[in-house]
Amino acid sequence: MGGCRHIGIIMDGNGRWAASRGLPRTSGHLEGLKTARRIVEAASLEGLGFLTLYVFSTENWRRTQSEVDFIMGLVHTHLLRELDFYREHGIRIRYTGDPSALNAEIWQDVRNAMDDTKDFGGMQVALALNYGGRDEIIRAVRRAAAGTAGMLPDDFDEAALGRFLDNPDIPDPDLIIRTGGDMRSSNFLLWEAAYAEYYFSPKFWPDWTADDLRTALASFSGRERRFGGVPAGKTGKQALP
Ligand code: FPP
Repeated sequence: MGGCRHIGIIMDGNGRWAASRGLPRTSGHLEGLKTARRIVEAASLEGLGFLTLYVFSTENWRRTQSEVDFIMGLVHTHLLRELDFYREHGIRIRYTGDPSALNAEIWQDVRNAMDDTKDFGGMQVALALNYGGRDEIIRAVRRAAAGTAGMLPDDFDEAALGRFLDNPDIPDPDLIIRTGGDMRSSNFLLWEAAYAEYYFSPKFWPDWTADDLRTALASFSGRERRFGGVPAGKTGKQALP
């Protein structure tokens, strides 16, 4: 995995994939779900530890009611009928986001899936559903403010606030992939991706394959991550007068 433990994916381009074939946007989401299964399987076989999928953002409620209902319906059917897929691969399902706006049935599906797979030791797949990076930070601050009486303002360093994020045990993503050609973060894992590498693919999500994942990983492996520092042996001192 070349030092890559956690990948986050912004699965973009379902609508445009469908439009380019004269199909309704919903066909793109249906195909997008198949791609998600394909990529989850490939990532698991590659030995990845954690994968976060941006399924539905806090902004996606602005879509038409029928599109929102379709996507939620897909998630419901997937979690209800396709858990065997996760069991076969020993994959543990996690959740990130704000469940309070989710339909009670969908939230129950997610909780059942998490419970059903909680003992699996393979890859962990976090479903970001009604997720927004700013929203996660705000919820973390609220939890901190509610539960840390006695803490002084200076006690709130990165580690202290980080403990109130949705899944403090999941390591920060090393790589964020966005398909569909746009090059922006769209409110995805804002805090956690502080030092992530980004990989942008022009392909629409339904067209993504295991080979594309491997190409993204190869690109990641070739990068030099400095985390704001200077690589060993290149301190720049030799350039000083
Ligand atoms: C973006 O395409 C995709 C989404 C809003 C999410 C839909 C995701 C799935 C159907 C996969 C679900 C996966 C699991 C594991 C439950 P878009 O509609 O923004 O495309 P566009 O930019 O071309 O309009």
